[in-house]
Amino acid sequence: MKNILIMSSKNGSNFEAIVKYFKNRNDINFKLLTDNKDAYVIKRAKKLGVEYFCLNKDEIRDFFLKNKFDLVIMAGFFKILDKGTIETNTFINIHPSLLPKYKGLNAIEHAYVNNDLKTGITIHYANEFVDEGEIIFQKELEVNPNWNLWKFEREVHKLEHYYYPRIIEKLLGLNVLVVGGGAREHVIAQKIKESKLLDTLYLADCNDGFSSLGNKIEYTNYQNLALQAKKRNISLVIVGSEEYLAGGLVDILNKYNIKAIGPNKKIAKLESSKLFAKKMMAKYKIKTAPYKKITSINKIDKYLSYFKNPIIKADGLAKGKGVYLSDDINSIKKELLFYLNGKFGKSSKTTLIEEKLFGEELSLFSFWDGENLLHFPLCRDFKQNDKNENTGGLASICPIEIDFDTNKKLDIYKNKLYKLLQKEKIKTPFVLYSGLIVTGDDIYVLEYNVRLGDPEAQSLLNYIKNDWLEIFFMCSIKGLDSIKLIENKKPITTIVMTSKGYPNETKKGIEIKNINSLNNKTEIYFSNIIISDNRILSNGGRVLSIVSDDRSAIYRALNAIDFSEKEYKILDS
Ligand code: AMP
Ligand code: GLY
Repeated sequence: MKNILIMSSKNGSNFEAIVKYFKNRNDINFKLLTDNKDAYVIKRAKKLGVEYFCLNKDEIRDFFLKNKFDLVIMAGFFKILDKGTIETNTFINIHPSLLPKYKGLNAIEHAYVNNDLKTGITIHYANEFVDEGEIIFQKELEVNPNWNLWKFEREVHKLEHYYYPRIIEKLLGLNVLVVGGGAREHVIAQKIKESKLLDTLYLADCNDGFSSLGNKIEYTNYQNLALQAKKRNISLVIVGSEEYLAGGLVDILNKYNIKAIGPNKKIAKLESSKLFAKKMMAKYKIKTAPYKKITSINKIDKYLSYFKNPIIKADGLAKGKGVYLSDDINSIKKELLFYLNGKFGKSSKTTLIEEKLFGEELSLFSFWDGENLLHFPLCRDFKQNDKNENTGGLASICPIEIDFDTNKKLDIYKNKLYKLLQKEKIKTPFVLYSGLIVTGDDIYVLEYNVRLGDPEAQSLLNYIKNDWLEIFFMCSIKGLDSIKLIENKKPITTIVMTSKGYPNETKKGIEIKNINSLNNKTEIYFSNIIISDNRILSNGGRVLSIVSDDRSAIYRALNAIDFSEKEYKILDS
């Protein structure tokens, strides 16, 4: 149980916003302290069933010497506390300006009288001086010059009531659930585990290679998973892969008021319906390959003849295998027939024929929080194996440098993307993954995904040195504008170890030995493995990822692993 004290001298609207925000948490106990027996906040405390104390200055000092809290929250408390008192507990305060501007009373009025066009709020640790102490969080507010004082105050308070509870939530330690069982989810879980903001990490559908990082949740259906998350006071769910998103997991979590990184079902269609994505791109003039939708085998010849180099794509999800590329028109035709006859079930009953584009591929990851779009350094995914087959990804690098002209085109693309997200009023926080190709003339979108890529995540999460839980959490509370990315000095490479035969059938249950002797320059993330009697056994195509900023160390590690089905891609150094 976390014991929290809120201090208020007056109205107490922040007090009420905080208590209400946490009303479903069964691990937090609030108390109120006021120095004003006539304060309206007492009425609010009574209504909300919060125990309160009304004390004078001397009693307050005494009170803090005797009582320890996990956090003391000042929310419109007007007495200055002396150094001795402040040092008894962790005190935080909120102030309605962008400190250090307008310390002290009437900050909003000062900004209003001065016709400031920009104001905001500051949440900071409190010390014995007024409105000083280390800043925890600031949020800017653009002022409309037509606002009267009443409207001005209301807008500032709205910001306070939204952000104060959420920043407090973060300070109290976050319970986080990571959903999914690939190497991408392993790296996400690992980075969350390293965060100083974490209280408890929970995992659903993890693989045996990283189950020891957190507490495993077994569930029967999404509703049941949401209920269990609620019971465990989970603040944030990070959803790794697309099936959950297209299946509506986030819609259910949202019903239970649980924040998630991942879109609702409607927006997940950017990935789960190629046709939906194409229509969205057309609406916002985002360049993509020309295409034709086909549902009937009668039209195969006619439609194929529209294209110079046709490729085919299942409209729906197909576990990353829905694109068929070939230079041979007859095999395209044959495959198209399979598609339309339900090779991928419902997903390929509607198929897209599209023009093949030629150029360098890039993966752009952008976090959208409902207001802000934060772009990460470009990554590259190496999808093709030695037989030129498309796989789920065999290697990745972050960052990828591009020339000045391409960068300018990328900026134009980023602006269009921002417009799309904003104009479509997309509120759901998620990771938008743009699969891009740089052709002779411009940047084109090959595909959208609504989650991190695998194996790009393994490189990206190691390249960016920020606290990743801070990034994910800020994304969930419209706070991405507070994030400044910190990059590693050297690029990061990921090489995926696969089992012979991948992307087609592979043997399972083959032991992987000599993992523990890996050099300390590499990180390892597991995907398709199981652990049985302390033995690591392969359980699918992509088995594990080795990651480092020293490529030769990666290959030394791969060499050292003893696995009879071992295959991996060699990148030029
Ligand atoms: P997807 O299944 O949509 O994720 O696409 C997977 C991969 O297929 C892409 O990363 C590209 O390598 C390839 N691809 C998809 N569309 C095209 C296209 N129009 N031209 C060339 N390659 C494509
Ligand atoms: N790297 C490809 C994907 O995650 O879909």
